[in-house]
Amino acid sequence: MNQTLDAIFQRRAVRVFEPVEISEGLREQILNAARHAPSSFNSQPYKFYWVRSAAEKVAVAKLCLGQKPAETASALVVVVADLGSLSVTAQGQLAWMRRSNFPEEKIRDYERRAKIGRILFMPGPFGMFAAIKRALFWLLNLWKVLGMPPLSRQDLFKWATKSTSLACQNLMIAAEALGMNTCPMEGFDGRRLSRYLGLCGRHHDIVMVIAIGKKSPAYSEPPQWRRPLDATVTVL
Ligand SMILES: Cc1cc2nc3c(=O)[nH]c(=O)nc-3n(C[C@H](O)[C@H](O)[C@H](O)COP(=O)(O)O)c2cc1C
Repeated sequence: MNQTLDAIFQRRAVRVFEPVEISEGLREQILNAARHAPSSFNSQPYKFYWVRSAAEKVAVAKLCLGQKPAETASALVVVVADLGSLSVTAQGQLAWMRRSNFPEEKIRDYERRAKIGRILFMPGPFGMFAAIKRALFWLLNLWKVLGMPPLSRQDLFKWATKSTSLACQNLMIAAEALGMNTCPMEGFDGRRLSRYLGLCGRHHDIVMVIAIGKKSPAYSEPPQWRRPLDATVTVL
């Protein structure tokens, strides 16, 4: 078929891995593919915690409810939606545009959009700004076509989770293409795992933990089922 499609169709959630080392080079390739995923406003609102040491893996696997893929993985990747990095990321992109000699007009345009984003994305104390902005947008929407930006902290995490999930999928497909297997997991104790990693609830939310390794020859995959295409798709 095609190598990209092969990796997509071959990928399965593997529940038992055999112990293999993941080299630094392979780790970098997998993570590099993950961060090349598209993200809203190119904001890349996520962080990856790659857990590889035996002791740390045991601790994290325990917080993944002792699930078999977590216990047997060569590495565990805790993928975190990160609202705390937004302004540093925008500054980084701006600095890169300046270094790369983007036209002044493009730089000013990006600066302006980043400023509007900052204002829109600020929920304010007790979500007060969010409530005011929501009311204003609701009124404007009565006669104007517009999309509702993420206003509350909950909206912001939902917004960041979309881009984070795309990075997760890139990571899993890249791992598959490079001869590894994965299992995405949302079965974990988010409160304890956040504390273990030193995350802060205001800025961080764990989206999923991805177990990576090589499928154990002793593991037999169940058949894969998907809804038929016509139950999933509406063609207009
Ligand atoms: C967001 C998400 C969370 C998941 N959580 C778990 C989990 O905690 N444990 C697990 O064994 N599998 C988990 N899975 C894997 C799914 O069960 C699996 O993808 C699904 O059954 C389809 O199987 P396949 O990926 O092999 O096609 C999760 C998948 C996703 C996308």
